[in-house]
Amino acid sequence: MNVAVIGIGRIGLPLAAAIAKRGHTVIGCDINSTRVDQVNRGENPMPDEAGLGDLLREVVASGNFRATTDTAAAVRECGGVLVAVAVDIDSAFRADLRHLFAAADTVAQGLQPGSLCIFDTTLPVGTTRRDLAPRLEAGGLKLGHHFSVAFSPERLLMGRVIEDLAKYPKVVGGVDAQGGAKAASFYREVFGAETIELASAEAAELSKLAEGAYRDLNIALANELAIDADVYGVDISEVIRAANSQPYCHIHVPGTGVGGHCIPVYPRFLMQGAGPSRLSELGRRVNDEMPGYAVQRLEQLTGPLSGRRVVVLGLTFRPNVAVTPHTNAVDLLRELSAAGAIVQGHDPLLSDDGVRALGFEPAPEPPHGFDIAIVHANHRQYAALDWPSVAPLIFDARNALDRDAIEASGVHYIGVGRPPTPA
Ligand SMILES: NC(=O)c1ccc[n+]([C@@H]2O[C@H](COP(=O)([O-])OP(=O)(O)OC[C@H]3O[C@@H](n4cnc5c(N)ncnc54)[C@H](O)[C@@H]3O)[C@@H](O)[C@H]2O)c1
Repeated sequence: MNVAVIGIGRIGLPLAAAIAKRGHTVIGCDINSTRVDQVNRGENPMPDEAGLGDLLREVVASGNFRATTDTAAAVRECGGVLVAVAVDIDSAFRADLRHLFAAADTVAQGLQPGSLCIFDTTLPVGTTRRDLAPRLEAGGLKLGHHFSVAFSPERLLMGRVIEDLAKYPKVVGGVDAQGGAKAASFYREVFGAETIELASAEAAELSKLAEGAYRDLNIALANELAIDADVYGVDISEVIRAANSQPYCHIHVPGTGVGGHCIPVYPRFLMQGAGPSRLSELGRRVNDEMPGYAVQRLEQLTGPLSGRRVVVLGLTFRPNVAVTPHTNAVDLLRELSAAGAIVQGHDPLLSDDGVRALGFEPAPEPPHGFDIAIVHANHRQYAALDWPSVAPLIFDARNALDRDAIEASGVHYIGVGRPPTPA
């Protein structure tokens, strides 16, 4: 089968390469010509995506995969069209669909009779039917008669997209009567994936928002429990471990907020739709307040931060991926600066310019000589750090470090909802 993948970013590129690896002819389409040229040379633009480098080299060399900026021409050659163009939120926290709409308009110019178009990008419920399908019809073909449309959310984790593709069932839901079944059969063919066909695109859209809302709210619960743990002087890590030993309890890990362009964004889509708005709003508020709470707690335990030298380690939104949208590291910077701390940032996955782009002054390499180190994203490189030379006090913003090892090295440890060891 010939497949066009529109948007060869963090999700679209591994997706396209994985389909090509299974022997299909895949054309990756993007408006970013630098990305297109790079991919056509077989170069991997995302070294932190496991397995992508080898896969890309292989499928470009085999001729099964190429990239282009001419989306309409590529779509003209393909029976399957996957759209993986990102949707973010605007300054009013509403879904910003401009890029996706532009992509759909271009796809419409090339859409052929008999084709199937699947939207993979997480969306407010109803967007595929209300907004995207009519844009495709504007190209002159009739939905359900000449072509089909479905929604199928990506459920992948950046950094291990290729592994996840084979792991989780593909959820699909159609707009026209045939869309869902065609999408399910498409994914069985191109991935050999298990599929779950829902009754409509709206059901599939809501299922993805449900996953995101569940995680955001679960983390909010963990965060409130961590604040309680601080009040009671108990360690939230052992509390959650004990609670989760019962099979119906799955409390997540507390931390200084929720970052990335998925989990903190999707509840906003529910808030702009039918809901559940009240819970989504509350979860967002609890999680957004965590950087402020963490800095307040640090001051409560260690005294005023004014004039103290603080380094934030790991500025990306989570460990081991070089991705920074909505990272809570910038929220920590804001709160620390407001408290008068002298803050620097360090991240082995970012250039100095990348560190500055987030508002941080770059820390020396290796980071050393600070009063306090806050480990925000615990990248695997940090396992080799000599903690005593970094700072005498470590704040573990995600409860991700080995507390015993840190304390054994003579360094003071504080976590989120974890009391300091008595002196
Ligand atoms: N990244 C994740 O971990 C993740 C996980 C699950 C789901 N998703 C979903 O996947 C979507 C895509 O995320 P991503 O991380 O791949 O985004 P990304 O920003 O890395 O990639 C999007 C790509 O689309 C391209 N693009 C923009 N407008 C275009 C157009 N008109 N025509 C063609 N290409 C265009 C951009 O140049 C970019 O390369 C997200 O919105 C989200 O819904 C992402």
